[in-house]
Amino acid sequence: MPKPDMTPGRVRVAPSLLACQFEKMAEEIVAVKDAGADWLHFDVMDGHFVPNISVGPLGVQAARRAWPDAVLDVHLMIADPDRYLEEFVEAGADILTVHVEAPRHVHRTLQNIRSLGAGVGVTLNPGTSLGALDPVLGEVDMVLVMSVNPGFAGQKFIPGALDRIRTVRRKIEAEGLSVLLEVDGGVKADNAARVREAGAEVLVAGSAVFGAEDYRQAIRDIRGNG
Ligand code: DX5
Ligand code: ZN
Repeated sequence: MPKPDMTPGRVRVAPSLLACQFEKMAEEIVAVKDAGADWLHFDVMDGHFVPNISVGPLGVQAARRAWPDAVLDVHLMIADPDRYLEEFVEAGADILTVHVEAPRHVHRTLQNIRSLGAGVGVTLNPGTSLGALDPVLGEVDMVLVMSVNPGFAGQKFIPGALDRIRTVRRKIEAEGLSVLLEVDGGVKADNAARVREAGAEVLVAGSAVFGAEDYRQAIRDIRGNG
């Protein structure tokens, strides 16, 4: 598995497959690839950590087959991520992001992801203090700031997320770290510029891409390049 390019410094758009038409997931993946998507964002939900159930490693495998050299950005909203890390990497995940709220020992979980050779991401819910990032910031390749409470596509962007993005950006810069900043939830053409200006570089977008008539235009609007 080639290492994903996680170098900060350019904006990436990651369509969230949670909002695609599942009966034709492979076609949807090819459509966003052809429309210029940078990454694919894959939401895994277990009905415990979040009140919804999605798909697991088999879905990641299917996504990998549909776009063999995609950067597969896997967002684990599950209560016991450690149990499944290896399976997700074997299924083709390039980046595994876990919630600080989920595992009992998040620091160890992040080290486990590192030892499996995948990109290491950490995220936190809108109601979790950003101080929770401090002890683990040096362990990760990416911080994901949730801009909705996780569980569903199509929710409204929580405006307070903008300040949280700015704060995380300052933390990353203050420590001189090479860490990507991703934002997930309710990102659309009409707020993407503010999200980018606040310091986000990876913009996840579910309904704003898969609900659009023209995927290419939607991705361009979110990335901000015309
Ligand atoms: C929410 C998921 C998101 C979601 C994004 O729990 O983590 O990735 O699918 O969808 P939109 O962009 O529609 O909010
Ligand atoms: Zn997500």
